[in-house]
Amino acid sequence: MCGIVGYIGHQDVKDILVKGLEKLEYRGYDSAGIAILNNEGLHIYKEQGRIAALREVIDWEQGASLGIGHTRWATHGKPSRRNSHPHTSTSGRFTVVHNGVIENYQELKEHDLSHVAFASDTDTEVIAHLMEHFVENGLRIEEAFRQVLLTIKGSYAIALLDSQDEDTIYVGKNKSPLLIGLGQDFHVIASDAMAMLSLTNQFVELMDEEMVILRRDNKTILNLHGDIMQRRPFQVKLDASDMEKGLYPHYMLKEIDEQPLVIRKVISKYQDSEGSIRIDAGLRNRLNEADRIYIMACGTSYHAGLVGKQLLEKIAGIPVETHIASEFLYNRPILSSKPFFIFISQSGETADSRGVLVTIKQLQYPTLTITNVPGSTLSREADYTLLTYAGPEIAVASTKAYTAQIAVLAILAFDVMRERERAPHVNPFHELSIAANAMEIMINKKEMMEEIVWQYLNASRNCFFIGRGVDYYVSLEGALKLKEISYIQAEGFAGGELKHGTIALIEEGTPAIAILTQAHVRANMRSNVQEIKARGAHVCTISMEGLEESEDHMVLPVVHELLTPLVSVIPLQLIAYYAAKYRGCDIDKPRNLAKSVTVE
Ligand code: F6R
Repeated sequence: MCGIVGYIGHQDVKDILVKGLEKLEYRGYDSAGIAILNNEGLHIYKEQGRIAALREVIDWEQGASLGIGHTRWATHGKPSRRNSHPHTSTSGRFTVVHNGVIENYQELKEHDLSHVAFASDTDTEVIAHLMEHFVENGLRIEEAFRQVLLTIKGSYAIALLDSQDEDTIYVGKNKSPLLIGLGQDFHVIASDAMAMLSLTNQFVELMDEEMVILRRDNKTILNLHGDIMQRRPFQVKLDASDMEKGLYPHYMLKEIDEQPLVIRKVISKYQDSEGSIRIDAGLRNRLNEADRIYIMACGTSYHAGLVGKQLLEKIAGIPVETHIASEFLYNRPILSSKPFFIFISQSGETADSRGVLVTIKQLQYPTLTITNVPGSTLSREADYTLLTYAGPEIAVASTKAYTAQIAVLAILAFDVMRERERAPHVNPFHELSIAANAMEIMINKKEMMEEIVWQYLNASRNCFFIGRGVDYYVSLEGALKLKEISYIQAEGFAGGELKHGTIALIEEGTPAIAILTQAHVRANMRSNVQEIKARGAHVCTISMEGLEESEDHMVLPVVHELLTPLVSVIPLQLIAYYAAKYRGCDIDKPRNLAKSVTVE
């Protein structure tokens, strides 16, 4: 949700900022802007839309060696040039970029800043005006900035420039991610290390309620009491080439194709030299002490969590509840006496999930984060982390992170099973390799998915996905993928539930995709398909080998009955991809979305 960058050094800053923003565009792309400072003063360039639009309005002749930048996912104020960051105080002295939400901005506007004429509808603008207000009231700049951070409530990653000082950037952080990158005579700021990897791989993380006085050759990290904080840098081990899309037309297609490889990587990371599961002994003990597991996640990760529930219950025999994090946060159910919490998050930064983690930590229950991003907030703050090793996922619609999450959950389930000495013995790595091969087979059938899109979704505004058990959970994911990138209204349904109301929407030609991989509900699913066919639905059935019928459209290779989501989701991801492609949609950056949702 919004990305910020900053640079203070000796190189020309514009290109550094714009290239950094391009790497952060996944965090929001409603508008973008930069502010640079040189001896002629402050120069702000901003534009509604993509970074490409910002590039057009920048005066590339204007040199400067410090500046800040922002790419926006609108929260307060519609996407427009007027609401684009950076925002400036009335005199033009203070300029700010911000990621997060200032919850008391309205109150501040009405009281402390009632004299100010605001130039935007954003919550962010209060930061620049408050800064000016405190300085006018006699505070030194550093102290004024600290007062600003003490006054605002909510989440923020802030970079602020004082147009009278070409040697400092002021930085603040609370709840929104922010890193300081270190170099020879320069410093950078970024919401995600990815943005500045071309300059440095040495970063320092900031904790909540901290500020930084950043200069070319030194930095001072302070807490909001004014105490100096010491922090060791860490090295970000990301291969910059993982972030390129090569010959692929879209990141999403590349990431779909990478999935078998990712599963094999997960296998290699979690299998020790003796073929056993490699998992922290402490985590294993805590899991085995638990009487119930609570899984928290959002969106696609929530769908992986639903599959995780089946895996952990059926394989390990432990009761599991999977919750939408934003619901759990404010409507907490009665907890068992020995709960264990699992957070699933590709980015490791999702505010809704983090909100739950903070509460659960206060209650002192054990926590595990399953994430794709080492060092992310949810990873740092949970007791344990299991990485998904999917590599950077750039397309906004999640694909390889989802299947990697399921693979890790499966390994965890088999590990708990073993500890609880449940029979029968199954080798999880062997089963996952079979699944990886089956995924590859499906990936190589792209023409079939294109054909299905032509046949079923060419002229359609809606689509149903149905399944039972894990197939139901995959149908939720299939529907989410289709709607988020192609804008076709789609709903995932439990096969048996449709007839309890929603079947009223089925009419002649309504497209429906039925998934059938579970032998024990084969007959019921076949009846559900007949029920909607009888009412005119145009049904495309995807079944598993051994359960197929002659009119089925696609047959999936056999895999372990609880690992079928790894395979059945592939055609659904590809169907969504081709549906979006034929509609001319912006596949990697669908409208209104952002990859990392750091606001509640
Ligand atoms: C959909 C998608 C989102 C995310 C959700 C949670 O394709 O990507 O639904 O799954 O915003 O994000 P993470 O997993 O980063 O917590």
